[in-house]
Amino acid sequence: MVDVRLVPLTVAHVPDLLAAMADPEVLRFTRTPHVVTEEWLRGWLAGFDGHDRFGWAVVDPAGAFLGYAVTGPVDHEGAEAELGYAVAPAARGRGVATAGLLAMARWAFHEAGLLRVTALVSTGNPASSAVARRAGFTREGVLRSVHHRDDVRVDLECWSLLPSELPAT
Ligand SMILES: CC(C)(COP(=O)(O)OP(=O)(O)OC[C@H]1O[C@@H](n2cnc3c(N)ncnc32)[C@H](O)[C@@H]1OP(=O)(O)O)[C@@H](O)C(=O)NCCC(=O)NCCS
Repeated sequence: MVDVRLVPLTVAHVPDLLAAMADPEVLRFTRTPHVVTEEWLRGWLAGFDGHDRFGWAVVDPAGAFLGYAVTGPVDHEGAEAELGYAVAPAARGRGVATAGLLAMARWAFHEAGLLRVTALVSTGNPASSAVARRAGFTREGVLRSVHHRDDVRVDLECWSLLPSELPAT
């Protein structure tokens, strides 16, 4: 497994995030706006308050930015959260997203005490479906016509992982 670390996202990551979020696949498959401005990005970063939402840069052992990994709003009462991820184009195809998703799942179960995490993957995003599958998630089914952004609605595969299913490292 490729060696990655999660470090909290900060404004120091703005240039790397702007570059990663300019990628057509990121624009297509994530909810980032079609034109990502630095102002929008700073607001997005401010939302990771370490209670309701968490966000990390996925970096290599030398600290180089490879991608990002984020939670949706954490349901503390229900002990659940949605996990999301994106990898910079130059770092794709060598397991970075899978390792990053597993690192988030370990954080969720071992540090945050969550009991269920999900990944919502657009139908037609086989690379991301493969990431969820390789990280040990189970495909539960398809959520239909979910609001994506603006007037766009998409079908989303719902994948989930429970603590007992976390692959050994
Ligand atoms: C999806 C994404 C995160 C994958 O990142 P990555 O670091 O390349 O992923 P990994 O290397 O861990 O795994 C990719 C898997 O998808 C497979 N894959 C890649 N392209 C594929 C395709 N077109 N069809 C089927 N499988 C594909 C790879 O073979 C690999 O699986 P394997 O290891 O079993 O062979 C990256 O492409 C990305 O950032 N896309 C844009 C944003 C996005 O879609 N985010 C997810 C939103 S749910």
